[in-house]
Amino acid sequence: METPATVQMLNLQLPTDPRWVNLAEMDLGEILTDHAYCEQKAATSCISLVQGYPDYPELVREVAPIVTEEWGHFRAVLAELDKRGLELGRQRKDEYVNGLMKFLQKGGGRERALLEKLLLCALIEARSCERFRLLSLYCADEDLRQFYHKFMVAEAGHYVLFIELARKYFDREKVDARWKEFLAYEAELLQNLEVRGDRMH
Ligand SMILES: [Fe+2]
Ligand SMILES: [Fe+2]
Repeated sequence: METPATVQMLNLQLPTDPRWVNLAEMDLGEILTDHAYCEQKAATSCISLVQGYPDYPELVREVAPIVTEEWGHFRAVLAELDKRGLELGRQRKDEYVNGLMKFLQKGGGRERALLEKLLLCALIEARSCERFRLLSLYCADEDLRQFYHKFMVAEAGHYVLFIELARKYFDREKVDARWKEFLAYEAELLQNLEVRGDRMH
């Protein structure tokens, strides 16, 4: 079901379990709710980057518009829920992101922390992109396939942006070496998480 080419393009080391799209489609209210909060969290982390690194003008310039875009995504998911007569549910524990956070290197100062934050953002964007792609290809509902296609394209752009920012501020070899570690960790984390239709990740 997954084509290795996309996984390769995104650098991800583990393709999503093919059962996931079917599970996700079974309860749209649940998957759309989880998706909405993913967009909210993406907007929130971009705001935090701007707050934490005002002395990185290019970062501020690049990331500020992403806040608007991610919040626009949140609103698009709300509109989709609305259109289908569904309601936004409560936010659930995000085991995927919590698991990734545990991997972040502590110490080393705020500059080192920036590399960790940029790579974390890049990774979540890459995995989201891979999953939106699956939904855009394999959802039974034609409208949903189009709906998810737009997210796939946008999140692919964000993935590239975060990697490029990391390469702008840090030595390329250092970025690439750390990125490889993130990818290996993420694959192992995902392997150990239950495949659930009510979670984007
Ligand atoms: Fe988004
Ligand atoms: Fe994004």
